[in-house]
Amino acid sequence: MTEVMAKSIRVSPPAKINLHLRVGPPTPDGFHPLMSWMVTVGLFDNLEFVPISRPGVFLECDDPGIPCDASNLIVKTATALLESVKENEPGVTGLRAALQKRIPVGAAPGQSSSDGAFALLAMNELLKLNWSRGRLAELAAKFGSDLSFFFHGPSSICTGRGEIVNPTPPPKLRWAILILPKIHMATPAVYRRFDEMKMGQANALASVPDWRQWATLAAAEILPLLINDLEAPAFSLNPALAELHIRATQSLGRIVRMSGSGSTLFTLYDSEAEAIQAASHIQDQLQTRALPVQLCPA
Ligand code: C5P
Repeated sequence: MTEVMAKSIRVSPPAKINLHLRVGPPTPDGFHPLMSWMVTVGLFDNLEFVPISRPGVFLECDDPGIPCDASNLIVKTATALLESVKENEPGVTGLRAALQKRIPVGAAPGQSSSDGAFALLAMNELLKLNWSRGRLAELAAKFGSDLSFFFHGPSSICTGRGEIVNPTPPPKLRWAILILPKIHMATPAVYRRFDEMKMGQANALASVPDWRQWATLAAAEILPLLINDLEAPAFSLNPALAELHIRATQSLGRIVRMSGSGSTLFTLYDSEAEAIQAASHIQDQLQTRALPVQLCPA
């Protein structure tokens, strides 16, 4: 997924889903302790970097809906890395970055976290910095709880506020569909509603699944085990998402889960053919975008 050309580098940040997400009561800093099984899925952006002499990080994107200013995670992480290496790399002053947005915006969670993390992986290679993945992940974690996962994917258990990442075997089943409504869920609002609903139970994180055994299960065996504690608050905040969840479940005759804080919904399949058929069924029946995707693509 990495292509180095003369004085430039191109990477393909993947999307991810939370297969399982348990959330505990908030700690004094306002964050919530998590336990989540996260996997990459076969949907990718393209990100290219070229070193330039002008100081700073200059991002352009083919999607006009993506902010390219200092609020973009690519700009944030790349600027932080440039700052921390400038003493040792006086020749490197600036970077031009070009993002081709292919992961649906505002729908597939982790899309910007992935870009921010892969910006650091790309720069590490381009500038031959030889930072370890752990050191890059530590820098990245300052910019969001989800970024660390992308240094250790494709299948990991994330704890802490999401930044403590332990690789685990990928699920044996390799197919999912993503249901991508045009609904944007603001992560802080979902956690606030979780608190208002007093959903944070300390014992949510106490029973740790046997992840290795879970990885061996077929779709019909694992779906009933999966939980996302943020579904109830997300559905309470957005009744249209709650309604879509019910209709997708009924239409497929299958358990459907939400990923992260929404709005992406997903379900799992043992074969590509079943996933392709299910995605086209959802598009026809519910007029909502649905994509078949591979889990943990190579
Ligand atoms: O870290 P990230 O930028 O993804 O977090 C966005 C917001 O989600 C945080 O400001 C916080 O309100 C909430 N959050 C949380 N507990 C977590 C992760 C995120 O409360 N473990």
